[in-house]
Amino acid sequence: MDRDGPITAGKTDGLDSQDALVAAALALGAREVRGWSAEEELLSAQKRRVSRAVVADVRDRIQCGEDPLGEAFCNLRRPAERRPQGATFTPRAIVDAMVGWAAEAGAPQRVVDPGTGSGRYLVAAGLRIPNASLVGIEIDPLPAILARANLAVAGMAARSEVVLGDYRAVLLPRIGAQTLFIGNPPYVRHHLLGSRWKTWLIDEAHKRGHSASQLAGLHVHFFLATVDKAAKGDFGAFITAAEWLDVNYGSLVRELFLGELGGKRIVVIEPTALPFPDAASTAAITYFHVGAKPKRIKLKRVEKLTELKDRNGNSEVRRERLEGERRWSHLTRPGKRGPEGYIELGEICRVHRGQVTGFNKVWIAGPNSAGLPERVLFPTVTKARELFEAGNVLEDASALRRVIDLPVDLDVLSASERKAIERFLTRAKALGADKGYVATNRKAWWSVGLRSPAPILTTYMARRPPAFVCNRAQARHLNIAHGIYPREPFGPTILDNLVAYLRDTVQVTQGRTYAGGLTKFEPREVERLLVPGPELLARGPMT
Ligand SMILES: C[S@@+](CC[C@H](N)C(=O)[O-])C[C@H]1O[C@@H](n2cnc3c(N)ncnc32)[C@H](O)[C@@H]1O
Repeated sequence: MDRDGPITAGKTDGLDSQDALVAAALALGAREVRGWSAEEELLSAQKRRVSRAVVADVRDRIQCGEDPLGEAFCNLRRPAERRPQGATFTPRAIVDAMVGWAAEAGAPQRVVDPGTGSGRYLVAAGLRIPNASLVGIEIDPLPAILARANLAVAGMAARSEVVLGDYRAVLLPRIGAQTLFIGNPPYVRHHLLGSRWKTWLIDEAHKRGHSASQLAGLHVHFFLATVDKAAKGDFGAFITAAEWLDVNYGSLVRELFLGELGGKRIVVIEPTALPFPDAASTAAITYFHVGAKPKRIKLKRVEKLTELKDRNGNSEVRRERLEGERRWSHLTRPGKRGPEGYIELGEICRVHRGQVTGFNKVWIAGPNSAGLPERVLFPTVTKARELFEAGNVLEDASALRRVIDLPVDLDVLSASERKAIERFLTRAKALGADKGYVATNRKAWWSVGLRSPAPILTTYMARRPPAFVCNRAQARHLNIAHGIYPREPFGPTILDNLVAYLRDTVQVTQGRTYAGGLTKFEPREVERLLVPGPELLARGPMT
């Protein structure tokens, strides 16, 4: 089946130039795939010949599931030349695992591969999903021609289209049936992206109620473009560098994952598995189902590519935890495994630092606050000692100092209350309470903004284990304590048993010890403590 390309008899190692690659691709039927462009025509106008033997060998290898054209392209263009386009092709083990998942997770009528390269995902998807149309979008005419050849040899030309263009700009018609978006969006750092596209990212994100960073790489653009092109019910999987899980510019992907994209699962691939042959970096596969809002997100970390096919072994994290955290990759690390029914505290409770006043001398009530209305004075835990001395339960708040917490809008106060407060604020201002980082970063400098009473309070810095205390007194807390807030309301039995368990089991060694022996538990470290789940806690004390 020699078509189009000029063929001569000869050796089989002849894919050593761009012209030879194009000639071979033409000979293999590249033109049969829809979407042939003027740029590709221009590339095809060369006179280079490849031998029949080369073409036959390439065809055989493609039919055996290899990608000799893609490999030759990567040999021809060194990594440094491919970097500006983010052209790192995906190893077969990854393509197969992702496509295998997709073939079971849906019944797509169309498969879209954004940044198709030599078409590895499309060919694999075409084999697993026999009736779907296959659409590749590629900005570079050379890999686009190679993808066409691969599709033609695989016998998929009639249901394939390769669009030469920028994925962000390409119009993808709605088909009224499920589309699978699958691939490896190009990884190109922001300084290689033009200002037009940076502005596009910020504007498009803004229209959807998100903010975006100028520092975002091209893969972030591809996530946003996918949300734009996809319809409810579409699904997909993208492999990218894993850094979006943690870096500031990745916040847009994190928001899309929890929002419109419908993220369901993230698999992090350790660099030891060499997910991207050209770069020793950590990768992440993001699985999504547009419109889904699962209560729990599946997370997994693999060290070998062979582990990708195993869809078990995920840990599950409540979506609220991802919503509450600015870095995600630590959540993908396997937690400590406890007995059956044990979970991380963060699965059932949020942990928040207490409020910082910025100026305790002013904001903790004393002679300075004489005349202030009772309703702006809140009994508050202001010293760790108060929790150490409380025992299991803080029953009575009367011995606690009170923090002055004024509303942001002072108009809600009566005229007489307002007068007393104005007098207090004049004194506070004279002491400089309206200055300083904390006061100037509050909604209103006069409003400390205490958190609501936490059902459980805990100290977090000492030379002994933290004191966990049931806060029946409804006391507020300053930043010498953390508040533990159940995500769903717990009855008193569960609360008491949880506090008893934490008091009995948490060791000073579970925190971070600083020079001098002081141990600190950050809120996220408290959330990672292993505790019996609510079902176990409801049955009785668990020590
Ligand atoms: C990481 S490679 C992946 C190739 C292929 N899907 C694979 O996984 O083997 C990304 C591809 O996207 C292409 N690309 C870069 N910028 C693009 C853009 N704005 N629109 C469409 N394709 C783009 C590159 O030329 C490159 O072939």
